[in-house]
Amino acid sequence: MNLKDKKVLITGAAGQLGRQYCQAFAQAGAVVIASDIDLEACQEIPGQLEGGIAKHYALACDVADPSSVEAAFAEITSRFGSLDVLINNAGIGVFEPWLERKFEDFMKVFRVNAGGTFLCTKAASVLMRDSKTKGSIINIGSIYGLGSSDPRIYGDTPRMNSECYTGSKAAVIAMTKYFAIHLAPYGIRVNCISPGGVFNRQGSYFVEQYSNRTPMGRMANEDELPATAVFLASDGASYITGQNIAVDGGWTAW
Ligand SMILES: NC(=O)c1ccc[n+]([C@@H]2O[C@H](COP(=O)([O-])OP(=O)(O)OC[C@H]3O[C@@H](n4cnc5c(N)ncnc54)[C@H](O)[C@@H]3O)[C@@H](O)[C@H]2O)c1
Repeated sequence: MNLKDKKVLITGAAGQLGRQYCQAFAQAGAVVIASDIDLEACQEIPGQLEGGIAKHYALACDVADPSSVEAAFAEITSRFGSLDVLINNAGIGVFEPWLERKFEDFMKVFRVNAGGTFLCTKAASVLMRDSKTKGSIINIGSIYGLGSSDPRIYGDTPRMNSECYTGSKAAVIAMTKYFAIHLAPYGIRVNCISPGGVFNRQGSYFVEQYSNRTPMGRMANEDELPATAVFLASDGASYITGQNIAVDGGWTAW
């Protein structure tokens, strides 16, 4: 997929999957605007990726803070003039048992996952509309936005998946449809990718249980997500909007 010189903003770029999106879009020829709450980590991304990133710009942005998002988009506007692709990848979770959850922690997850998606989508939509760019916005949901996590696969590990993560990712998937409909008149497409669990050296009990529960018998590898994002950003997906694609080894198929 050729995305030569397309300006692509990736939030949460310094994380496990954010780096993979950076690499894939760089390989497709894009200008990668790698954004994270952690600016230093963004600046280090090219040096940590195979082949580096030819056209890389590091940008600080806390997606849950309206003034930070406003400043980040002001910088994008003055430096690049437009934006072709936004990947709303920044996301957080909490892992204590849900009956111990503090309301502040519940709201923090919603603020980053759902609120951040709203703020960045709104800012990108205004920029794309005003610059007459037929852009592509890609939200990152989760299989846990499509159904609850299965508590049996966590055993006695301290990292239980949470009700607020599930709720916030369901909101991301639902908002994808709303945004897609309301941005279609401007030629802006909005889709969502819902990854299954990605292997990241989790404990062997969890990995085994998760794999047994998955039709393809394993967790995702971190490099198995970006191709879908590159496709959705490209002209190959020019008639696709409002969709959620689960990249999950079949987890949600049964
Ligand atoms: N890894 C998985 O198994 C998996 C599965 C399904 C969905 N997802 C989703 O994929 C996305 C990326 O996941 P990951 O595993 O790479 O996570 P990660 O924790 O490795 O990276 C998340 C990144 O987001 C950044 N971040 C956190 N709060 C932020 C904020 N307020 N503003 C800007 N940046 C912020 C962090 O600094 C970090 O670099 C998330 O939305 C996550 O929910 C991941």
